Formats: sequence, structure tokens, C-alpha cells
Amino acid sequence: MKKTWWKESVIYQIYPRSFKDSNGDGIGDLRGIISKLDYLKDLGVDIIWLSPIYQSPNDDNGYDISDYYSIMEDFGNMADFDEMLQGMHERGLRLVMDLVVNHTSDEHHWYQEARKSPDSPYRDYYFFRKEPPNNWQSIFGGPAWDYDEVAGEYYLHLFTRKQPDLNWENPKVRQEVYKLMRFWLDKGVDGFRMDVIPMISKYLDFPEGDFSDFNRVIETLYTNGPRVHEFLQEMHEEVLQHYDMMTVGEGVGIAPDQANLYVGAQRRELNMIFHFGHMFIDHGPDGKFDIVDFPLTEFKEVFNRWDEAIGEEGWLNIYLDNHDFPRMVSRFGNDEEYHEASAKMLALLILTLRGTPCIYQGSEIGMTNVAYDSLDEYRDVESLNAIREYREKGKDLKELLRILHVQGRDNVRTPFQWDDSDHAGFTEGAPWLKVNPNYPKINAQTERTNPNSIWHFYQKLLTWRKEHPTLIYGTYEEVTKGDERLFAYLRSDKDHTYYIIHNFTGRAQNFDFPDGDWALELSSYASTTDKLQPWEGRVYRLTT
Ligand code: GLC
Ligand code: CA
Repeated sequence: MKKTWWKESVIYQIYPRSFKDSNGDGIGDLRGIISKLDYLKDLGVDIIWLSPIYQSPNDDNGYDISDYYSIMEDFGNMADFDEMLQGMHERGLRLVMDLVVNHTSDEHHWYQEARKSPDSPYRDYYFFRKEPPNNWQSIFGGPAWDYDEVAGEYYLHLFTRKQPDLNWENPKVRQEVYKLMRFWLDKGVDGFRMDVIPMISKYLDFPEGDFSDFNRVIETLYTNGPRVHEFLQEMHEEVLQHYDMMTVGEGVGIAPDQANLYVGAQRRELNMIFHFGHMFIDHGPDGKFDIVDFPLTEFKEVFNRWDEAIGEEGWLNIYLDNHDFPRMVSRFGNDEEYHEASAKMLALLILTLRGTPCIYQGSEIGMTNVAYDSLDEYRDVESLNAIREYREKGKDLKELLRILHVQGRDNVRTPFQWDDSDHAGFTEGAPWLKVNPNYPKINAQTERTNPNSIWHFYQKLLTWRKEHPTLIYGTYEEVTKGDERLFAYLRSDKDHTYYIIHNFTGRAQNFDFPDGDWALELSSYASTTDKLQPWEGRVYRLTT
């Protein structure tokens, strides 16, 4: 397998709106990021992925772009960007930008021109139809075809009404995308995280969907369209191959057996994807707000299945949360009694599975989901749509409050908790989204003072991982199949074998070793006992 920097690196995702505000307007910004570059360097991550910072009316917090060539005013300007990028490079950090090109904002001038007339040269940049050709639903609720009064036609938007889908069939659209990619790459950025990239090729016969299973519709109708690989190969040919860069695709809708079509090295498409196996694991037939339980065996099978499917051909991105999903310690750990223990154990998990890990901002200090006491505190468009729908249908709003506390995207978008001062040291003004009230206890300052903290455990693991290439290139094999308490696997190459074991319960557990003699390499607890302690993770090294 070919060795490269993006396999050996660890990514850290910044959600700029919520990271650090430098000017007291309550919104995180680029100068805020600049002020925290030493913090990131000290933590030990290698690549920063920034959620979108382009100009946007913020219907979907920057994932609705109105100008790909300028910086959102809330975040700063191009001079700030250049300084930030330089600051990163000086510290040996790389920058990956979010590339959102399945759709634009309806305020983008392409769309503004397109809607004016059927004869506009931009009309064909989007999908306009006289009548909605099918029953498609938007991923954020409501119909995916909406009437545009100015256009006098319906247009397609798989996300919000303000996010019209681009028509990639049009070669001019593709050239526009390549051009903007080159613009940022020529500035020196080191790669792209490609938003909903499996959606760029549409089934042009627009078949009807069976919405009794939304996830199924996404997998079969909204993603992996007939020309997606042709488009990505063209993008590789025209842009990607000319730069020393990395690409990670948001792998929504991709099944394990399709993965290497996107990331197989010889395919010349993307370097890696992140899949949704464990993100959809607790979604019922009605989607994410229809929450279902799942056993640990199913969670482990997701990783096993994907690792096997990728094999030696492709590469994966490993994550347990991001700006779209609940906090990992709240979802997969225990954010109450075993908050610290489970946050550390999950850190060990993401940093020892096979693939390039991605840490979402705040995981390193154990930030948790937020339980707002009123629906009025919610800001995310998906949450707001759900609230409207519940109101309209007369459904139980208390129940929705409970659901949003478990599944809402606001959970991961609350401001970063820097210290125990007002608004957690995120802003001197009023934050755009209310700070999680647990900040006096959970914050970076406290974490950095305590040598046994979650933060220090991340720091230690990040260094340790770099010194152990087996954890990067070695094979992966789960050895606790069928066990609902433990998740253990072997990582090995010709030089070393490691046995990594996690206790996914709040009780001490007995455990077995595979054959051979094993020496303890590290534990997520300060001291170990015969049994695995609640939510403990350990690494053993084979000595014979
Ligand atoms: C991706 C982004 C998400 C956004 C959506 C539409 O899933 O991660 O935040 O809302 O695409 O751009
Ligand atoms: Ca600001």
C-alpha cells in the first residue's frame, strides 16, 4: 500500500461559527481561529478541515454559498484568510476547505440570472421543470421541487428551498467548479472535503421515491447517479492530479461494496470517504428523528464491513461525530456518570481504527449534547423545520424537545467551551447559539490544567499514534464478534501486533487475550486492574 501524508495525519474539524469569536459580535470568525492555532498545534493534529467560510446568506450556515470567491463577512475577509493559511503552514498544519458544489445558494448570481428567463445562459445550471416530475422530498423536510415565481417554473432542491441543486450535466457548470477549486488550491490550500459529493449526478428520468424509508431513497435515488464516477474522474484529470492535496468525500448513500469505486487508488477519483454506517444506525424508517436502539454488535459490524470492503485498495476517514450529528460522548459513550472515561475510550477508538481519523472540535475536551429547556433556543434549519412541522401537525412538542436533545444538529454547534468565564470565553458579546450550560465544568482551560484530563489523553494518543505506524498501515481484525460488551481488534503489520480493547459498558468486565504474550502499552485509565474498568480502553503489544 502506498504511503502518503494524508494517511498518516489526523484531521480536526472546525465549525467556524462556533469556534472562537474575535470581535464580540457573537459569531466565531477567522481571526478567532488565528488566535487558536497554537492551541491546535499543541494538541497535535495535522490537518484542519474548515466548514464553509464562503459568502453565504446562511440559510444552512454556509452550506448555501452565494459567492465561492469571497469570505463570508461574518467571518472576516480575504486578508484574514491569507494570514490564517500562512499561520497554519508556518506551524506545519494543513488546511482542507469544504467544497459545496452539489448546490449553491439561491442568492448566487448564477441562480439569480437563471430564474430571470428560460433563455438565460444560466438556466441550465439548475434543474427547472414546468411541473414537479416526481414526489421527491427535501432532506430537510417538505417537497424537493418548489415553485419559483420569478422563473415561473419548479426547481429542484434536495436540501433547503434556498439551496437549488446544480446541474452537473452541463459542462459549463463543471468548468465553473474546477475553476473555483483551482482558485483555492493556487492560494495554497491542501485539499477539499466534498459536501454530499455522491449526489452530483442525477437520475434524469426522476423516478418516484418510496418515502416510507427515507434512508433507502437517499441511497438509491439521491446518490450514486449514473455519471458520478465520470464526473469525479474528469475532476481528477482537470484539477486534483495537478496538486499535492487530499480529498475526502462525504460518503452519504454509498454502500460498502460501492466504496472503492470512489476511493480505489487506481480509479483516480477521491482519496477517501467517510461513510454513514454508524451515523444512520439509530435512525428508524422515518429518518433521524425516529430514534431506534442498536446493539453494540451492529455498531462493530459497521466498522468490520467497511474495513473489509475497503481492503488494501482504498482508504477511509474515521469519525464518530461532526457538525451534522450528535456529540460522540453523548451518543456512543455515557455523558453523565462516565463522561470522562467514555470520552477517553472513544478517543482511543477513533485514533486506532484503520483510516484517517477526524476529530470534531470540542471532542478533545469532552463536549456533550445540549439539553435546552425551550424550543426557542434552536437555530439549525433542520431543527426549525421539524419544529414547524410538529406545530402544523399538532404533534407533541415536548417529545420533539427530547428528540432534538438526542439528534439535533444544534448539539454539536454550541460554542466551543474555552473557559469558565461568561459564554465560556467564546465571545464577549451574545453568542449566536446559546452556550451549553455545562461549560463551568467542561472547558479547555480546566482540561489543560488537569494532567489526567481528556485533553491530555488526546494529546498523548496523537503523539503515540505517530510513533506507531502499525496503527496507520497495519491490518484490522475484530476479535470480539457477537460480544455486546466489548469491542476489541488486532492491528498488525510485519513488525508488530497490537490488541486494542474497549469496554462499552458501565461495569467492570473480564476479558480474554488472543494467543501469545501481551504487554500493556497504554490504558485510558490512570491505573489498571485485572478487569477492564467501566468504559476503559487499553492497548496491548504482542511480545512473542
Ligand atoms: C452536508 C453538510 C450539511 C449540509 C448539507 C447540505 O451534509 O455536512 O451540514 O446541511 O450537506 O449542504
Ligand atoms: Ca465575530
